[in-house]
Amino acid sequence: MVDFPPRRKPSRKGSMADVPKDLLDQIKELERLFSVDQAKLKEVTEHFVGELEKGLSVEGGSIPMNPTWVMGYPDGYETGTFLALDMGGTNLRVCEIILGEEKGEFEIIQSKYRMPDELKSGDSEELWEYIADCLQQFIEYHHEVEDLEQMDSKLPLGFTFSFPATQDFIDHGVLQRWTKGFDISGVEGKDVAPLFEAALEKRKLPVRLSALINDTTGTLIASHYTDDTMQIGCIFGTGCNAAYMENCGSVPKIAHYNLPPDMPIAINCEYGAFDNELVVLPRTPFDVIIDNDSPRPGQQAFEKMIAGLYLGELFRLVLVDLHDNKCGLFEGQDISKLRKAYSLDASFLSFIEEDPFENLSETAELFARELSLKGSKPELELCRRLAELIGTRAARLSACGVAAICKKKKIESCHVGADGSVFNKYPHFKVRGAQALREILDWPKGKRDPVDIRAAEDGSGVGAALIAALTIKRVKAGNLAGIRNTEGMT
Ligand code: BGC
Repeated sequence: MVDFPPRRKPSRKGSMADVPKDLLDQIKELERLFSVDQAKLKEVTEHFVGELEKGLSVEGGSIPMNPTWVMGYPDGYETGTFLALDMGGTNLRVCEIILGEEKGEFEIIQSKYRMPDELKSGDSEELWEYIADCLQQFIEYHHEVEDLEQMDSKLPLGFTFSFPATQDFIDHGVLQRWTKGFDISGVEGKDVAPLFEAALEKRKLPVRLSALINDTTGTLIASHYTDDTMQIGCIFGTGCNAAYMENCGSVPKIAHYNLPPDMPIAINCEYGAFDNELVVLPRTPFDVIIDNDSPRPGQQAFEKMIAGLYLGELFRLVLVDLHDNKCGLFEGQDISKLRKAYSLDASFLSFIEEDPFENLSETAELFARELSLKGSKPELELCRRLAELIGTRAARLSACGVAAICKKKKIESCHVGADGSVFNKYPHFKVRGAQALREILDWPKGKRDPVDIRAAEDGSGVGAALIAALTIKRVKAGNLAGIRNTEGMT
């Protein structure tokens, strides 16, 4: 996702006084399509709670509820040097993290590498080769060759691979399916660890994959490290998802491991897949188009309505429909730029929502600059309202996932660590989400919100290092649940 504009306040109130009737009618229709009222939020949340349960059961459901083999929180006394690799949508980030002797102390160095778009739909080998090349560059840049040669053990690496993966062990993961528009052939259904390790081996890198981690699990662990009231880690970014700590006894699908029922295990919900069966989600015809035209129709129904990757596309589809079939928006103008799928991203809506001027002059400039379109004031008002509706729906539906975990776990009060471009940069997302939580959970007015979604700590850097450290620590303590290879850990 491209950079969002810097946040600015205050925003203008907006006026529909000069909007002609045909446009007003369209606005009303869009409001009807995109608004999610309190009753619907509650209905979605209720259904969500049942689906979370189903995902933990032996039969399973459409929410994968993946056990991660992260068996508890750090206590702040984890130590050592770790590498962390984060394969994000836009960038690849490599970090070296030193967890110090003092409680909670750490140092981090990091480099970012661009993740070329072609890789996202290329073939598997190119992906692993590219990742391993970046890791090699990082290691060679930050370490002397002699130091590397003298190292008697390999550096433990936490690899943040933010896709649904079935894990029988913490250092492996069978990709269930690509999400977020990725479509690399030959990886779905395969264990990604050996594919990645083969590329490391080819380069003789002094690195050992210690843990394959989801970004939500990293976020949960990193956030709890600095704030022990954090009980849920969420990502509201290109994709959406959450992780939380469950008791092994409440996860029937791992009963055959005979683990102590009160032993904690982090669950990566993968709740972007919530309601793939389309029982409760209030989808619009535009959501249907997004799904049908995506590389994986029928998958990630919830994510496709709320995540950053899709917000700009939803907005674009509505505008094209208004031009072609409804009120003749941008009538007589060439809308060819607007016709290009995924040409607008969430930052486009974000920019419109942040336009502080009564005459929407910045929005007008944006349309002229990016799409070569000239909008009348009423047309720009409609665009502004549409951006608000799409952004608000995303925030309100997002709250259902968090509320569902709280209900399922009977959490009455906690902090939720959230990360991702939409959470951090989309205007009003936090306030809108908090308002929806209030409506779902019926908190009394005028009191502090008992469940508070806050900015998380760095999950794919510090979180990944902590998970690698926790893994080594528990192997030493003899807890081998989800461990297949103890080499270099004892
Ligand atoms: C992925 C999750 C990830 C989320 C946020 C989803 O598309 O399936 O694994 O946590 O995006 O990055």
